[in-house]
Amino acid sequence: RVVAVIMVGGPTKGTRFRPLSLNIPKPLFPLAGQPMVHHPISACKRIPNLAQIYLIGFYEEREFALYVSSISNELKVPVRYLREDKPHGSAGGLYNFRDLILEDNPVFIFCYYTSAKASPLTFVIVERISYICASQSHIFLLNCDVCCSFPLPEMLEAHRRYGGMGTILVIKVSAESANQFGELVADPVTNELLHYTEKPETFVSDRINCGVYIFRPDIFTAIGGVSTQRKDRANLRRMSSFDALQSATRSLPSDFVRLDQDILSPLAGKKQLYTYETMDFWEQIKTPGMALKCSALYLAQYRCTSSHLLASGDGTNSASIIGDVYIHPSAKAHSTAKIGPNVSISANARVGPGVRLISCIILDDVEIKENAVVIHAIVGWKSSIGRWSRVQAGGDHNAKLGITILGEAVNVEDEVVVVNSIVLPNKTLNMSVQEEIIL
Ligand code: GDD
Repeated sequence: RVVAVIMVGGPTKGTRFRPLSLNIPKPLFPLAGQPMVHHPISACKRIPNLAQIYLIGFYEEREFALYVSSISNELKVPVRYLREDKPHGSAGGLYNFRDLILEDNPVFIFCYYTSAKASPLTFVIVERISYICASQSHIFLLNCDVCCSFPLPEMLEAHRRYGGMGTILVIKVSAESANQFGELVADPVTNELLHYTEKPETFVSDRINCGVYIFRPDIFTAIGGVSTQRKDRANLRRMSSFDALQSATRSLPSDFVRLDQDILSPLAGKKQLYTYETMDFWEQIKTPGMALKCSALYLAQYRCTSSHLLASGDGTNSASIIGDVYIHPSAKAHSTAKIGPNVSISANARVGPGVRLISCIILDDVEIKENAVVIHAIVGWKSSIGRWSRVQAGGDHNAKLGITILGEAVNVEDEVVVVNSIVLPNKTLNMSVQEEIIL
């Protein structure tokens, strides 16, 4: 049996994504016309024998209710949102719902609970059954804020071959950018993970952790071990007056466990974890600039996986389409508009005559009036761009003002030019701005 878990985090994690995360949880922000979380979820369709997909986060349940029910119907695989009462960390969140996640695997649950209380003989038998059932069931764990081709069936095959507790998707990146991620060293022959350091200050390796994993159910024993160790240390601390121990252990609560620092680092070099390297695309989506870049990557991927989602420009009244473009069926684009490449237009948007759109995300209910130009920008829900106006940027996805962002219900009046700027919701711009954050 196979279960997939997608870690979606919560509202406090989305600050770098403002002002777009003011309206919508970051995992539901549309990339290539589909919510961010939809891309890993639809990749899960390719996993053989997938029983269930869980999203774990600390957003309000109602924010995910509609999406979860519609995607369950569409995929014909049950998708369920599990809400944490507070952040437990990337491994603690998973551990918090271990009973539900193991529900599909009754033999393992039996082993898991009895092994703690059993006599030595039963212990050996239980461990043996536990080993057999554990080697047959798998948990995929995916970070929601990564964009890649999610080669999940290929990873599963490699994971079975390696026979370890877990397999991590890795990619080679430039040496300068590696320190934003978990850097790791693997054995070039066996692919065993030999060394792991999370966001190191000095360079370790240009191979990094992509935030996509497969684990056997005994990962829960490893996470539980860290949690118990923390509890024991906290008890010891309470009884001890030893200052060094106090300061070393004060900060993290026992139920807060980070997958990278607390699990991957200590298990490296113990023949428990292995790596699977992808040669395909991979990016992390922490900022609106990266959302625009990842929207382009997913649009390009549609050419192979879902070409029906790409606008063709074939209809008699349709706009000219250049390259990869997504247009929601309810959006309207005038036949004299020119759209693309890398443009995604959401529900009920209206694109007027003579409009030019290049590399942008146009969200629901936006109106773009005659002869306006939008380049390297995200235009927020219900915003309006006036006649002959320009909303544009240089397009450096990593720079703070590298793309222009209009928050919800921003009104750019006629003949106004907005360059490399961020405009917060509900503003009206009646004069041109450049390199500004309009609060
Ligand atoms: N449910 C839940 N609860 N999710 C969480 C929590 C939590 O308490 N904390 C983090 N997450 C989710 C985030 O939403 C994200 O999807 C994932 O877990 C990892 O987030 P972080 O722990 O903030 O790590 P990161 O994104 O800075 O880096 C991780 O991912 C990189 C790949 O994108 C690390 O594992 C890096 O090593 C890795 O390179």
